[in-house]
Amino acid sequence: IFSSAADRAMAAAVEDGLTLVEDGLLRELEFADTIADATSRYLFAAGGKRVRPMLTLLTAQLGEGANPDVLVAAQAIEITHLASLYHDDVMDEAEQRRGVPSAQAVWGNSVAILTGDLLFARASKLVASLGERAILLQAETFERLVLGQLHETAGPQEGEDPIAHYINVLAGKTGSLIAAAAQMGVVFSNAPQPYEEAVVLFGERIGIAFQLVDDVIDLSPSADETGKIAGTDLRAGVPTLPLLYLRRRAVDDPADAELLERLERGIAGGDPLDLEKAIEDLRRNDVTATTIAEAHRWAASAVAALAPLPDGGVKKALIRFADVMVERSA
Ligand code: FPP
Ligand code: MG
Ligand code: MG
Repeated sequence: IFSSAADRAMAAAVEDGLTLVEDGLLRELEFADTIADATSRYLFAAGGKRVRPMLTLLTAQLGEGANPDVLVAAQAIEITHLASLYHDDVMDEAEQRRGVPSAQAVWGNSVAILTGDLLFARASKLVASLGERAILLQAETFERLVLGQLHETAGPQEGEDPIAHYINVLAGKTGSLIAAAAQMGVVFSNAPQPYEEAVVLFGERIGIAFQLVDDVIDLSPSADETGKIAGTDLRAGVPTLPLLYLRRRAVDDPADAELLERLERGIAGGDPLDLEKAIEDLRRNDVTATTIAEAHRWAASAVAALAPLPDGGVKKALIRFADVMVERSA
């Protein structure tokens, strides 16, 4: 993919940037307080793909590259993401994350929630050093993140289409932060302003695609691969897209209606083995392939948003990034 010397130099610059971001994150997650130092570093040390910093570094290549502000922005975004994971695992009652017990499984809900708050405070400090523009962007992103999560919790309003509602939830809880990651790269590398909207749309749409793939991975039985337990979202009462499709099909398909009933009985507290079997059947149902197809559609529309960008290494890398985001289902 990166055939020319210029493309390879760009890939190397992103790699170097990621190393600097990683070092920076290690420093930023340091606390003099012993408990805070252990809990705040916990999920960071457990793994993670650093997808958002990579995107910030990539879009910064449209401008002057990984200058100090770009590096700080990438760290702030990743810490905000980390903060949201601590809270998310409490709300989803997730037992595992990144192959280790979730923070609240180790320390309890209060410590997990407070660690999320602590990380958010650290992210805010970093963003403050970037000036008013970044503070506003971070605040707006945070608002959308929380509203997405709130609407997931509240469910669709009376008369609202559940699938449209769900896509809006994903745009908020996942798309907003990925879009901000892409936008900060453009803004703080002083790249041409017209690129900003293109990468925001790209980030938002790829975020939706990413989360749809996540919905399918959630059904996967191989807990060791993803660090999660099959059907974590469904068990926590989050009706992900495969389940929403199933509900739609159950209206005129008796077999789907029967599966839906088994799932709902299991989620409501029925026999755990029956629920496990029902989740496995959902995974094998057509609705999973339909969800993957929908993820690919969002990835394609993300790529289409890149039209205003110049042809070259950055655009190629972003297209590759979009592919990797949806191919990770395996
Ligand atoms: C993961 O979704 C959750 C999110 C992408 C965001 C959740 C947002 C909050 C908890 C509010 C933000 C709070 C702070 C302090 C920043 P998921 O549960 O579907 O994915 P998973 O499989 O990774 O658990
Ligand atoms: Mg979750
Ligand atoms: Mg969640």
